[in-house]
Amino acid sequence: MNKRYSSKNLLITLLTLVICAFTQVHAQDGKALFNANCASCHKIDDDLTGPALRGMRERWGDDKLLHLWIKNWSAAVATGSEYAKKMSESRPAVMNTFGSLTDEQISAIIDYVETAPAKKAPEAGGSNAGAPVEKDDNNLLFAIITLTMAVLAIVMLTVNGSLRRLQEAKDGVPSKPILAIYKNKTYIGIFAVLCLVLFGFFLSKGAVDLGRQKGYMPEQPIFYSHKVHAGINQINCLYCHGGAEEGKHANIPSVNICMNCHMAINEYKGEQLYTAEGKEVNGTAEIQKLYAAAGFTHGQAWDPSKAKPIEWVKIHSLPDHVYFNHSQHVVAGKVQCQTCHGEIQKMDEVEQFADLSMGWCVNCHRTTKVQFYDSATGAGNKFYSIYEKFHEDLKSGKLDSVTVETIGGTDCQKCHY
Ligand code: HEC
Ligand code: HEC
Ligand code: HEC
Ligand code: HEC
Ligand code: HEC
Ligand code: HEC
Repeated sequence: MNKRYSSKNLLITLLTLVICAFTQVHAQDGKALFNANCASCHKIDDDLTGPALRGMRERWGDDKLLHLWIKNWSAAVATGSEYAKKMSESRPAVMNTFGSLTDEQISAIIDYVETAPAKKAPEAGGSNAGAPVEKDDNNLLFAIITLTMAVLAIVMLTVNGSLRRLQEAKDGVPSKPILAIYKNKTYIGIFAVLCLVLFGFFLSKGAVDLGRQKGYMPEQPIFYSHKVHAGINQINCLYCHGGAEEGKHANIPSVNICMNCHMAINEYKGEQLYTAEGKEVNGTAEIQKLYAAAGFTHGQAWDPSKAKPIEWVKIHSLPDHVYFNHSQHVVAGKVQCQTCHGEIQKMDEVEQFADLSMGWCVNCHRTTKVQFYDSATGAGNKFYSIYEKFHEDLKSGKLDSVTVETIGGTDCQKCHY
């Protein structure tokens, strides 16, 4: 047998093995598939844009129908299933279609959702209660597999080389001198390709994420807890961020708004608070910081003109070339704050929930159905009366539904100056 050929063969086999290992892991990893395809709209135990998914197998009863729904929900509705019809009308948003997922992949997702450990009760004061989807930890796994395979390949090639040399010595063929590993072209080649692939991967990932800061949670000058205010004490978001209904910016409240209540509330008597790192926070001392900024001493009259603004660190921030308007979304679009910001009312410290990428905006515009105003019932949105034509098409059944995209929500100039 040709010796060169056999070592090349070995290399090809090994490379194929590596590739197979990758796809294999992918095919079975319901968690990775769920995170990649579903987690933008679904959580396992909580509602997001779509409903909480745990127990779906039982709710649907029929695995085939459930698979069909996930591949193409409108096809499931078309089978005449009552549940599918009811489900499709349950929410203003529509689900994506997943024609490219195989039945095995869908089963893997369902198995993952149905068997995932139930969500931990939020730890006392833990600020991760509203934490977004878990980070995908598969990259590390892939790196380890690749590395192991590469080491294995080198070992096998070395063994193969030694065996060949032994054989050649036995046959009396003069063998080529043994090359040091760093001089051997095959090894250098493999190494270079590996480096290039890894470098390219991290470079492009880094470039795409540049300036994005999903999960960003800076330390604020005062430990002000949204969980204490908007959660436990049920203060309406708009009491402090009223701008969200009126215009472009939601605004951060001034010291005066805090003092509406804190002239009277000078102590914190609630549950022990903790920072994200687990350090205890003294709520009463934090209220003292508010008093210092306001120039207020408890029990004395307050002169608001002495107040200095608190320098809150801005968390969400879009580049200057993007136009985003809160009232358009909150009032006209009727989108909940939590859809874009996560469950703020469960966070002690605010964390950036969405990645604020263009894909995030556009995907929602593609999938969110617009609610037209119905003069008979008064339901829906008067704002859309300018789109009379769509409305007529909807009534006459020419159109099923109208999304934000249909009314121009993906035109570049709508979001870019
Ligand atoms: C773009 C958002 C979006 C994505 C992505 C998405 N869904 Fe949905 N899903 C929805 C919405 C919205 C509903 C509610 C039905 C409706 O109003 O059309 C829903 C409903 C469902 C239901 C029915 C829920 C029930 O309780 O019976 C299942 C099952 C489901 N989705 C599974 C999935 C799976 C699995 C994936 C990933 C492969 C996925 N969805 C991805 C938005 C989404
Ligand atoms: C009592 C006043 C108050 C209430 C009520 C309140 N907030 Fe806030 N919010 C603040 C203050 C002060 C900040 C700035 C400090 C911080 O980021 O924690 C802030 C920050 C934020 C931010 C981050 C802003 C940035 O820098 O990007 C978001 C998002 C937000 N709030 C959403 C909400 C939502 C949603 C609700 C209702 C569930 C709500 N807030 C209720 C006072 C309030
Ligand atoms: C509508 C009334 C109201 C407003 C407005 C308000 N608070 Fe509070 N605040 C409360 C209540 C109620 C508590 C909890 C007291 C307790 O549990 O003992 C509290 C507790 C606190 C605490 C201690 C707990 C914690 O979150 O660390 C701080 C600090 C605080 N507030 C700061 C602020 C700041 C800063 C503002 C303005 C951005 C503000 N509050 C606006 C009602 C209010
Ligand atoms: C459609 C998604 C979406 C919805 C719904 C939404 N926000 Fe925002 N929010 C954003 C984006 C995007 C930014 C960053 C804006 C920027 O940098 O110009 C932001 C920024 C903020 C800020 C920082 C100050 C500012 O205006 O830049 C606060 C506070 C805030 N949002 C509160 C709220 C509250 C309260 C609600 C509900 C009444 C809400 N948001 C609903 C997407 C949304
Ligand atoms: C959770 C869903 C959602 C997300 C995320 C979202 N939007 Fe929207 N957007 C809507 C809805 C619903 C409307 C329709 C409201 C209206 O204009 O009447 C809308 C309308 C708009 C419009 C007006 C379109 C038109 O035809 O008049 C602009 C501009 C816009 N969004 C910009 C953005 C930008 C920029 C982002 C990302 C930073 C974003 N949106 C993210 C749901 C969303
Ligand atoms: C629904 C809102 C929306 C629409 C429609 C939209 N964009 Fe964007 N675009 C954004 C947001 C938000 C960013 C900022 C993304 C970031 O910071 O990562 C962005 C960023 C960009 C960038 C900078 C590169 C980048 O990814 O950061 C370019 C170029 C761009 N958009 C071009 C376009 C073109 C061309 C169109 C029309 C086909 C378009 N956009 C339509 C919201 C939108």
